[in-house]
Amino acid sequence: MSTEAPIRRITAPQIRVRKGGEPIVSLTSYHAHTAAIVDRHADFILVGDSLGMVMHGMESTVGVPLDLMIIHGKAVVRGTKRALIVVDMPFGSYEESPAIAFRNAARVMKETGCGAVKLEGGARMGETIRFLTERGIPVMAHIGLTPQSSHVMGGFRTQGRDEESWPAHEEDARVVAEAGAFAVVLEGMVEPLAARITGQIPIPTIGIGASAECDGQILVLEDMLGLSPWTPKFVKRYGDLGAEIEKAVAQYAQEVKARAFPGEEQVYR
Ligand code: KIV
Repeated sequence: MSTEAPIRRITAPQIRVRKGGEPIVSLTSYHAHTAAIVDRHADFILVGDSLGMVMHGMESTVGVPLDLMIIHGKAVVRGTKRALIVVDMPFGSYEESPAIAFRNAARVMKETGCGAVKLEGGARMGETIRFLTERGIPVMAHIGLTPQSSHVMGGFRTQGRDEESWPAHEEDARVVAEAGAFAVVLEGMVEPLAARITGQIPIPTIGIGASAECDGQILVLEDMLGLSPWTPKFVKRYGDLGAEIEKAVAQYAQEVKARAFPGEEQVYR
């Protein structure tokens, strides 16, 4: 029998009570090995449907299938011990009815072992969020710029530039909080609106291109590492891995061509 105390994963209710406290740290991850690194620093890891664009070269997140989310969700759960793992519900898997949302979200929870799901949409998703949370599925909401609706929104546009639109965003935040979401992502939202919403609702707000006043922040890992070919303006780069990979691959190619592959003696003897 092990004498070490088991590491307990952070839970959705533990994130919920961080409202107004120490800022919540989160990043996306889609992959067991990077997730293991992120796990040492993040409170929650999102297996975002951005994986369609980042990992699979899709033009938007609209084409991401549920099975793909489950495959990546399993990998991230396997690679981690500590952080809460939140898996995104992809477009088409939850909007039709609360019952369909429950069926698909339950599959995600059972097959991946994650601790919560995330879905996009504000007031219109209130009934579904309540249905899922009342039946044992913790839900993170996502409002503001919601990439799955980019075809309706006319692209990836910052939300709230026009002050007249603020009440609708505030209503979205209020409804998802009242419906039982344990946190809400505010994406691509003007700073004063995100700060205002953060002050109005009792659940943590997680900003991405929103405001430093949010209760936590999330970034797409590959964006902040400098691995994505294109990154939104608001993303601060904490690394330049794209350039590092390019340099390493070019050096490898050169050494292979020069038959100067290091370690050759040990490998081939
Ligand atoms: O899919 C994703 O990565 C997300 C984050 C941008 C919040 O939803």
